[in-house]
Amino acid sequence: MTTAEQMAEKQRSISVAEFFSKNRHLLGFDNPRKALLTTIKEAVDNALDACEEARILPEVIIEIIEMSSEKYRVIIEDNGPGIVKEQIPNIFARLLYGSKFHSLKMSRGQQGIGISAAVMYGQLTTGKPARIISKTGKDKTAHYMEVKIDTSSNMPQIVAHKETTWNKEHGTRIEIDLEAIYQKGPSSVDTYLKLTAISNPHVTIIYTNPKAEQIIFPRATDEMPAEAKEIKPHPYGVELGLLLQMAHQTKAKTMSNFLQQEFSRVSASVAKEILQRAGVLETAKPIDFSREAAEKTIKAITETKIMSPPTDCLSPIGAEPLKKGLKKEINAEFYCATTRPPAVYRGNPFIVECGLAYGGELEADSQAKVYRYANRVPLQYQQGACASSQAIIQTNFKSYGLQQSKSSLPVGPLAIVIHIASVWVPFTSESKEAIAHYDEIIKEMKLALQEAGRMLASYINKKKKLKGEMQKRGYIEKYIPKVSEALQQLLGLKPEERAKIEMELQKIMEDTRGELEEIAEENTDYDETFAKIGADETKEKEEGDEE
Ligand SMILES: Nc1ncnc2c1ncn2[C@@H]1O[C@H](COP(=O)(O)OP(=O)(O)OP(=O)(O)O)[C@@H](O)[C@H]1O
Ligand SMILES: [Mg+2]
Repeated sequence: MTTAEQMAEKQRSISVAEFFSKNRHLLGFDNPRKALLTTIKEAVDNALDACEEARILPEVIIEIIEMSSEKYRVIIEDNGPGIVKEQIPNIFARLLYGSKFHSLKMSRGQQGIGISAAVMYGQLTTGKPARIISKTGKDKTAHYMEVKIDTSSNMPQIVAHKETTWNKEHGTRIEIDLEAIYQKGPSSVDTYLKLTAISNPHVTIIYTNPKAEQIIFPRATDEMPAEAKEIKPHPYGVELGLLLQMAHQTKAKTMSNFLQQEFSRVSASVAKEILQRAGVLETAKPIDFSREAAEKTIKAITETKIMSPPTDCLSPIGAEPLKKGLKKEINAEFYCATTRPPAVYRGNPFIVECGLAYGGELEADSQAKVYRYANRVPLQYQQGACASSQAIIQTNFKSYGLQQSKSSLPVGPLAIVIHIASVWVPFTSESKEAIAHYDEIIKEMKLALQEAGRMLASYINKKKKLKGEMQKRGYIEKYIPKVSEALQQLLGLKPEERAKIEMELQKIMEDTRGELEEIAEENTDYDETFAKIGADETKEKEEGDEE
């Protein structure tokens, strides 16, 4: 029997590093294969975030070297702003330390745990410290540091530190040794980088895999994504506890000022409307705000029409760049993309985007390929658990010209990109793999899929029409010489007159070709479709000949 006093001797706090070293699967380190992906992903995501925040066109160099059986070295180098030397130990060797957790703006990282978790995993599996070089400007000194995590205290240890020279103006280079397995396939590092190139057409990636093959993903545009601005929470979806806490901590002296200062899109008149509905005085002190008043205020907020949150906190990919990214990495015949207007879940603004690639090299008889993204980061695990899968299954792709059985993905030569951009992406776990099933999010995803689906349907229909017209044209053209010959005989025409009639008939055919071109050009490159249909017809003919 154990007494409360005996139990008390064992009761103590647990360091977050100890917790996650035991629960490394929560951070994406469940097995050596996934560990390799997660490590690279955390470093690349950080590199891209840092470059964009500093408004530098990102160029990321990645190298994976096989050291021995199941032991690899990964090196990730960026041309970002660099990291000041005092922060290097905390960033790389302390869990829950970062710059993004408290800020309401879109970024790839949000938790402050990513890169230090990778360093910790490397240390636990190989015993080696992480090695970092960073330089913050042309005339600045580069610093080299070796760091380890003390898991019992979640504090960094500096194993080595020296000034060094680096032939880069600014940037960060990180080297981690870890237990890992390198494989190709849908959840591999290779695929992650390809998918990253689609959602980040402004990024150049130079990647060398353990087989010493170099793959370069060149940028498709020199245009940086719009800078994401930090915003305040939107009143829609704010929870009672948070509202109370905010009221008690605000510097505002009146309830009206509190609502205007701490939330986005609350003007004096909106604040007045909310408070009148809630029966709260505009001049009341926020510090006296009671639980009952908060409950009424929450209700009043839902009944008040408030402008949608500002969108400058989000930096969606944009329909055109998304199409460019798709064209760059997927060989298809038709591409379309759409960006929804912003919406809100639990007070957090978000935007859903959808892109489709159809035909070409995409497999015709298998299920559509789904590429899921959150804040431009590809999500490669837990597809079934993701809100986006739910949205796709609930969308009727039959009406867009594809096959689909109940509760399944559509079947056809189709790739679906679905992207959620938000100031806070609601992941189902710390490893950031699947998006939680918020009704508002699923609804927006469905609307985006429908918008893109309609563009696809219009293309498929036009293509069918075009194919029919082309066939007819072929038949008619074949008979032009016969018709002119018959006319020559019937009307007793001279050979020049017959030649003139033949030319006229050809010209009429050319004019109708112009009309067909217009149909095709609305949605895609005419030549591609035309060539494709031509090729299909030749193939059909050849097959017919064989029979
Ligand atoms: N390559 C880099 N260049 C500049 N700053 C960086 C770089 N990598 C990380 N940082 C800084 O270190 C912080 C911690 O990174 P970390 O990956 O641990 O967390 P995060 O990116 O904030 O969130 P998440 O855990 O979701 O990845 C970042 O917030 C950023 O401020
Ligand atoms: Mg990160």
